[in-house]
Amino acid sequence: MAIQDGYTLLVLGAGVMGTAVTAAVTDSKMKPFPGKVILCSQLEKSEKRLKSQFTQDFVEVIVDVEKKKKAIETADVILLGCKPFHFEAVHAQVKDNLKHNPLVISLLAGVTIDNLSIFSDKIARVMTNTPAQFGAGMAAVALSEKASEYKQFVNDFAGCVGAALEIPEKNMDAATALIGSGPAMCLLMMEALYDGGVRMGLTHDVAKTAAAKVMEGTAKMALETGEHPAVLKSKVCTPAGTTIGGLLKLEDAGVRGSIARAVEEAANISASFAKK
Ligand SMILES: NC(=O)c1ccc[n+]([C@@H]2O[C@H](COP(=O)([O-])OP(=O)(O)OC[C@H]3O[C@@H](n4cnc5c(N)ncnc54)[C@H](OP(=O)(O)O)[C@@H]3O)[C@@H](O)[C@H]2O)c1
Ligand SMILES: *[C@@H]1O[C@H](CO)[C@@H](O)[C@H](O)[C@H]1NC(C)=O
Ligand SMILES: *[C@@H]1O[C@H](CO)[C@@H](O)[C@H](O)[C@H]1NC(C)=O
Repeated sequence: MAIQDGYTLLVLGAGVMGTAVTAAVTDSKMKPFPGKVILCSQLEKSEKRLKSQFTQDFVEVIVDVEKKKKAIETADVILLGCKPFHFEAVHAQVKDNLKHNPLVISLLAGVTIDNLSIFSDKIARVMTNTPAQFGAGMAAVALSEKASEYKQFVNDFAGCVGAALEIPEKNMDAATALIGSGPAMCLLMMEALYDGGVRMGLTHDVAKTAAAKVMEGTAKMALETGEHPAVLKSKVCTPAGTTIGGLLKLEDAGVRGSIARAVEEAANISASFAKK
């Protein structure tokens, strides 16, 4: 059955990512739009945080376990945002209330569709990242066979964080590395640009803002032109100029290979988690 306007969304594990994705959806104009959002948390301090962040009257925060179980039975869509190693414990708590086989959208890294099939046969895995908190997230989506009829819904839902693309599940470890770990890799590059600016005499304030804006602007240019990065790069290299000089220093140091291998390593680690 298609997800209808006014559906009930229940969030199991409203931490950093669960909250970011929920806020992206409730701030969007997406159709179908939820009629009710139920955020489940465990700790009183999380309850306080959630109640102050989500003030809309269609949002409810539940801490009580018995209330949570009852609420599960009313959920059309469950957004799973607990830590990966908690999913079995979370399932054990609510398994008797899952008989209606709701659509489950999982944000958990390294937990497979097969692992999640204990919740429902309609599983969507979504890998996103912390920039989702600022409307600039990226999401990769993979669906179980039974969830394929929710393709459009899940892509729109995940797309609320910024952008979403569908991939085969076997590519999820690669997506975890590039999308999930990518921001930290970009921050390392940003920090290096900042340091270089400071080394050459820019103030910390100027270097910090400039390094971040350069990365933001470059990403925007690549997205809006749709050009290959190499094409854009060659356009900014004046013969005998400063840019090509700087780039060759990066090539001498093997920076390109290091960054690509960093993604490979992160993907390998993600794959090794799934085997545990
Ligand atoms: N952070 C990232 O950059 C990132 C990127 C991509 C994917 N992810 C994935 O996102 C998931 C969440 O990560 P996170 O950084 O958002 O973690 P987090 O902030 O620690 O959130 C985990 C949440 O799960 C809740 N929780 C634990 N057991 C629960 C239960 N039995 N019932 C209901 N809620 C329960 C906790 O609630 P209480 O606070 O009330 O205890 C907490 O809010 C992970 O699986 C991770 O793989 C994270
Ligand atoms: C990733 O794993 C593959 C297969 O085990 C291995 O060949 C490769 O060297 C690993 N990559 C890194 C960066 O360690
Ligand atoms: C998750 O599934 C993988 C295979 O898809 C399996 O190797 C692993 O043991 C499962 N993990 C858990 C915690 O069930």
